[in-house]
Amino acid sequence: MSLDPIELGSFWMPKQSSTIAQEIDTAWYIVYWLDIAMFIGLMVPLAWFMYRYKKRGAKDNKVSDVTHSTTLEISWTIIPTILVIGLFFVGLSGWMKAMVAPGNALEIRTTAEMYMWTFTYPNGNVSVNELVVPKGQPVKLIMSSKDVLHSFFVPEFRVKQDLVPGTYTTVWFEATENRDTVLFCTEYCGVGHSDMMGRVLVLDKAEYDNWQETGLKPGEKPLPPAELGKKLYATRSCNTCHSLDGSRIQGPTFKGVFGRQEQIADGSSVKVDENYIRESLLEPNKKVVQGYPAVMPTYKGLLKETDIDAIIAYLKTVQ
Ligand code: CUA
Repeated sequence: MSLDPIELGSFWMPKQSSTIAQEIDTAWYIVYWLDIAMFIGLMVPLAWFMYRYKKRGAKDNKVSDVTHSTTLEISWTIIPTILVIGLFFVGLSGWMKAMVAPGNALEIRTTAEMYMWTFTYPNGNVSVNELVVPKGQPVKLIMSSKDVLHSFFVPEFRVKQDLVPGTYTTVWFEATENRDTVLFCTEYCGVGHSDMMGRVLVLDKAEYDNWQETGLKPGEKPLPPAELGKKLYATRSCNTCHSLDGSRIQGPTFKGVFGRQEQIADGSSVKVDENYIRESLLEPNKKVVQGYPAVMPTYKGLLKETDIDAIIAYLKTVQ
């Protein structure tokens, strides 16, 4: 998989591509600059004292008789306390935002396993190692692991959350840029850990809807019907029940199915043509082939007209 490198937004940080990123970075930079100030505030006097009070010979070698300074002790207690309390509230504010997803968030079920990511969208679409999200809409991932601990990390969004077997964890973000960015597993999960990465594709709402509808990303051309049909055969689980090689699974094989004369359970017979395939997808139990259980679910509402056409086109090619 080719991935865009993470784009740097500043000297230390990647680009900010989510609504929470700014606040997280601000908290980080407050700590960072405080550290720098303290480092300088300690090291400069230290160096000065080393120079000023360096040993100059036996006659100067006497110890100061200062025992304590109340002012100094109070100030080095109070000032850090105020700083730490301030940092607590900065952190609390960001943490509250990061923990509670807005009510209108788009929920995407996320599963991690050694060594891949699976994303299931509200309409049942699935993508693997590629998370596609709309820009400007809160997205909430409801995550779990099939095996060991993994962790979901998108540096540009500043979100990171463990996935735990046997329980659900969540993370949410709202992407602010049309981006193609990287997602990492950031919990050591086995030998394939470093390969367990994926991409996050942020599309405009209309592009996202189109991708959900057609599976096409911006700039992609539609597949020829037979190829789309072949894809649907796998992605819509036709392959669970219908073989391509003549073997019997749950349902009749697709090998040579188009044009075949089938014996129906009620004793009549039907020729497999465009209309029969269409009917079998939408009302699968109307004309069940003799000797097979009537267990096929209806695809009404799950397949669009173009999908049905594509499946028919594909079945014509399965000989
Ligand atoms: Cu999954 Cu590391």
